[in-house]
Amino acid sequence: MDIVVDSLTYTYPGQPGPALRDVSLEVRSGELCCLVGANGAGKSTLCCAVAGFVPHFYRGEMYGAVLVGGQDTVQSTIGELARRVGIVFQNPFDQITGATLTVFAEVAFGLENLGTPREETVARVEGALRRVGLWEVRDRSPFELSGGQQQRLAIASVLAMDPPVIVLDEATSQLDPSGTREVWQIVANLYESGKTLLVAEHKMEYVARHATKVVLMEGGRVVASGPPSEVLGRDDLEAHGVGRPPFMSVVRALREKGLWDGEVPLTLEGAAEVLRKVSGR
Ligand SMILES: Nc1ncnc2c1ncn2[C@@H]1O[C@H](COP(=O)(O)OP(=O)(O)O)[C@@H](O)[C@H]1O
Ligand SMILES: [Mg+2]
Repeated sequence: MDIVVDSLTYTYPGQPGPALRDVSLEVRSGELCCLVGANGAGKSTLCCAVAGFVPHFYRGEMYGAVLVGGQDTVQSTIGELARRVGIVFQNPFDQITGATLTVFAEVAFGLENLGTPREETVARVEGALRRVGLWEVRDRSPFELSGGQQQRLAIASVLAMDPPVIVLDEATSQLDPSGTREVWQIVANLYESGKTLLVAEHKMEYVARHATKVVLMEGGRVVASGPPSEVLGRDDLEAHGVGRPPFMSVVRALREKGLWDGEVPLTLEGAAEVLRKVSGR
């Protein structure tokens, strides 16, 4: 299911200026699109617009349109939107309902609220928990889990609803390196299974490795969008508040010195290969 953002300008209630300014963007079905940019660039607001929280929850003033699977978010009900788009936020703690005692019940919560038959709920919850590797801890309290596990739980709650589009808004920013790896493993797995993914992320090595498309934002505008090699290869990337993965900077420096004339790789392994070639081993 694709996402089309068409000339979207949005101002939060009572704010003097827009948080998004004439944003246009297309994410094709099955793509993994990463949003990058400094704090305040508008990444979260755009994520909320795709999920329909803007303007259904945040209100404010909106011009332009957001279409998910060809349907306008403004004209869709919250229920219709929830079936099409799932969203995972920054802070795992905020997403736990607090209304349930176990990991299993937490994932079942949304389905039960929709009046899903018991048998179907059980099957969907099991499927979602197995997919994120939390089936073994299904009887534990959500609050006993590690940060990485809590984010996987948030993803499982989304997966139980089986939306074709999944949005992650800096879902790894509160996590340590191992929690980040856990979450990205699942994101990569969701991409393989054909979900359409919109992922705001600061950790650029994951963006470089996994994105099919990168959108660079600044001041509520889209500055650039394209394949990761193109956007992360821009000379002015840092000027827009985004740091390149260090291994890319190393290979770029070799290229500037005339020691390497090939591509700049998007993975650490690729960069190691370049270094082996450059050093003649
Ligand atoms: N709930 C809100 N109410 C008013 N202004 C907001 C709200 N959330 C974000 N903003 C403002 O919108 C702009 C974009 O913020 P945001 O979308 O959170 O950027 P990012 O996620 O890239 O850091 C910022 O100027 C921010 O202060
Ligand atoms: Mg944000």
